[in-house]
This record gives sequence, C-alpha cells and structure tokens, in this order.
Amino acid sequence: MEEMERIERAAKALARLGKPEAAVVLGSGLSGVFPLEQERALPFGEIPGFPAPSVAGHAGEVAVGVVSGRTVLVQRGRVHHYEGHPLADVVLPVRAYARLGVKVLVLTNASGGIAYGLEAGDLVLLSDHINLLGDNPLRGPNLDALGPRFPDMTEAYDPALRKITRDVAWDLGIRLKEGVYLATLGPSYETPGEIRAFRALGADLVGMSTVPEAIVARHAGMKILGISCVTNLAAGVSPQPLSHDEVIETSRRRAADLGRLLTALVPRL
Ligand code: HPA
Repeated sequence: MEEMERIERAAKALARLGKPEAAVVLGSGLSGVFPLEQERALPFGEIPGFPAPSVAGHAGEVAVGVVSGRTVLVQRGRVHHYEGHPLADVVLPVRAYARLGVKVLVLTNASGGIAYGLEAGDLVLLSDHINLLGDNPLRGPNLDALGPRFPDMTEAYDPALRKITRDVAWDLGIRLKEGVYLATLGPSYETPGEIRAFRALGADLVGMSTVPEAIVARHAGMKILGISCVTNLAAGVSPQPLSHDEVIETSRRRAADLGRLLTALVPRL
C-alpha cells in the first residue's frame, strides 16, 4: 500500500474520535499524566497501520477529549525504532495527526541527564535536538502532499510555544529547565565514553525517541513543543548502573507536575 494511503486510513479511523487541534504524545511512565473529559479512546491495535508497542510503561492508545475547554488528542505510549519497527511505522501516528488537521504537537519523553547540574526528576523543555539515530524518517520518496523534500529545522521547537510554556510553568511554581536532546538508537544505554562524546557535541539530554516524530511533524508544518523528564543521570555522570525500572519510577513520580503543566498549557497552545 502506498504510504499516503496508509496515513489517510489511520487519519480516517482517528477522525471518528473527534476533531482535535493539538496532540500530546506521552512517553515512558507518563501515560497517566492528564485526564480528559468526554474521552473517546482507541487502542493502537484498532487503528489501521498503528504499530503495537512492546515495552513496559508504554500503554499504546489514542484518546480524544476535552482539557480546559479545548479538544485535544492524547497518545499514551509510543513505539521506538529499537523495537524493530521501521521509522515509517514509528512516525505514522504523527503523520496521521497532521492529516487530521492537528497543528500543534507536544512530544514528551524520558531522558538521561548529561548536562552538569541536571537532577533525576527535572522537567526540561527541548530547545533543539541532535539526530544520532543513523537514519531519518524522511528518507525515501518525499511525500509531497505532506511537506517539502528538504524541510528547514532551524527553529524546530517553536520559540513562542517555549516562551508560553516557561510562563505557565513559572505561574504554577514548576521548575522547568531547557536543553538539547540527543537521540540514539538504543536499546542499550550509553557507555560513559559515549556520554562524554555527546556532551562535547552539545547534548544536554539523551534518549531513544522523539526525534523521528519531531522531524515528520516539522516536515508537515506542525508546531512542536518538547518536554523531557530526566529520569536518571546519564551513564558515568552518576556511578549507579542504569535501569528501565528507575526510568519508569522517576517519570511516574513527576507525572503529576507534568500533568498540571500540560492542563494549564493546552488552552494556550
Ligand atoms: N539513555 C537513553 N535513553 C534514556 C535514558 C538514558 O540514560 N533515560 C531514559 N531514557
């Protein structure tokens, strides 16, 4: 099946849930963060073309509902390239949202803290990203119906939305830092040597998601906002070994503040 046809089919199935203007992707351990009124949901398995998540902490459903008077789409859980899914499948949900008419995309994730001064539990606004996945979801024939062959990525994470988010966080008394997110393929965590190299490259955070979605969202002309929960200090920054349980535990601990932030932010997106 043609890629555009796959995207249209998924968008058509989602249209039955409602007509959202903004979408929020909730990452590892963050699925429960904010409740929707008048919610209608579909599991990934019932949306044509949506891949099935296999990782603990990633539920895999899409819900549309109302937050602070606005209709939003919430994706609970996501799939990753390291699970073996082709990048085309990893980004199919975001492309379907673009087709559905979603103009603003909020990407959340869990990450390891590289920059000195970051602590486990910090919430960090993404100012930029570095793609070290070794691939790009736009590789292959360009989908002209979605966007241009060579999309600009200069201000990928919308400066105006970042300003609004900082203001909302300030009003709520939630500390929000800002940094550059570097995406690796995973699934092994990094070595301390890799983390030193990533720091020298300009990375503040490291993770295994978000960047493919951000690239296709910008390609399709959506505005994006990225918010990361630092679930652990990156390898070698802390002497402790890394574990997925710690990642899930820390993000669950910070989910309430992220939920408050998103709830207050939604009407201003
Ligand atoms: N490295 C990569 N991905 C991650 C990490 C990390 O330390 N923490 C959460 N996701």
